[in-house]
Amino acid sequence: MAQVHLRNVVKRYGALDVVHSISLDIADGEFVVLVGPSGCGKSTTLRMVAGLEEISDGQVVIGDRVVNDLPPRDRNISMVFQNYALYPHMTVRENLGFSLKIARRPQAQIDAAVDEAAAILALTPLLDRKPGALSGGQRQRVAMGRAIVRHPDVFLFDEPLSNLDAKLRTQMRVEIKKLHQKVGSTVIYVTHDQVEAMTLADRIVIMRDGHIVQVGTPLEVFEDPANSFVATFIGSPPMNLLPGTVQGGRVVLADGTAVPVPPGLHVADGRRVHLGIRADNIMPEGHSLPPTAHMAHVDMPVTLTEPLGTETLLFATLAGAEVQAKMLNPRPVTPGERLRFGIALDKCHLFDADSGVSLRM
Ligand SMILES: Nc1ncnc2c1ncn2[C@@H]1O[C@H](COP(=O)(O)OP(=O)(O)O)[C@@H](O)[C@H]1O
Ligand SMILES: [Mg+2]
Repeated sequence: MAQVHLRNVVKRYGALDVVHSISLDIADGEFVVLVGPSGCGKSTTLRMVAGLEEISDGQVVIGDRVVNDLPPRDRNISMVFQNYALYPHMTVRENLGFSLKIARRPQAQIDAAVDEAAAILALTPLLDRKPGALSGGQRQRVAMGRAIVRHPDVFLFDEPLSNLDAKLRTQMRVEIKKLHQKVGSTVIYVTHDQVEAMTLADRIVIMRDGHIVQVGTPLEVFEDPANSFVATFIGSPPMNLLPGTVQGGRVVLADGTAVPVPPGLHVADGRRVHLGIRADNIMPEGHSLPPTAHMAHVDMPVTLTEPLGTETLLFATLAGAEVQAKMLNPRPVTPGERLRFGIALDKCHLFDADSGVSLRM
């Protein structure tokens, strides 16, 4: 097992920097997820750790070695990709053992490693099948098994579940988490899916345009987003952002509606801000918003409802902006119906309108 450090790591293609001097310390055994929109540099970063991409500047350290100039096979890492091409003409057993065979390990050692990986991943009954006779989830487990047999210090995953359907993705997520609990290796996992990031990670690294914008536990980045990008990227539905101007301790929205500035924040008059409210913190009165000393109230017409079973998502309009709210004791709502909503102000955020930076930080 090993710790991993990125020190001012840069990736440059010609004159274009696609990863801008990022630094990150990953503890031994930690499960870290790099998450961000497509093109933000996640795969490039992971591939530099793997040795599949040259590092333009800075250092990558695995364990206590600077690995910049080490080829992938000498870094003791295993990588699982989205396209996990198994060898179709080989059995599961042969697929699992292939990398060890190439490395000319003794057959007894290969057999032991394959049996161990198969047991961990519940592949033992499938060892003599070929990939064509496996389901998508089973194939993905074989791909992970190929990574396990090498007992790597670090597992690198690049969107390993993106080709699976939604239900299978949820199952495999649980399997990956169990796998990590069993083998305890350091994991760096790349995904564009914030739900995957939230459910898997010990720590989430949120990337945008080749920069790290926030690092924290899933709850830290959910509850204390550093800026409006993180606020809307993490969590579903995305946090509502209402543009307004601070005047006399209140946020005045475009139509003159005023809501007190969330408690603990001191913002100068005239500052243009976005008031951030998660759907969980704005609900029609009498529909289960936990009581708090810091309530505000607004009236909004509901334009659309999405019943989800135990709760209903309400789309409403406030000062010309769409707001998503929740109702935990669902009842039928007719489009156009005006409801009085409570807002838990102590759970709300303010972001600078220009920079997007949280004014809580
Ligand atoms: N070989 C390359 N030459 C030039 N630009 C590249 C190359 N590979 C990737 N990029 C660019 O680097 C950026 C980051 O890509 P990537 O790391 O694949 O993003 P992600 O995995 O977050 O979707 C993208 O803008 C992409 O177009
Ligand atoms: Mg990618």
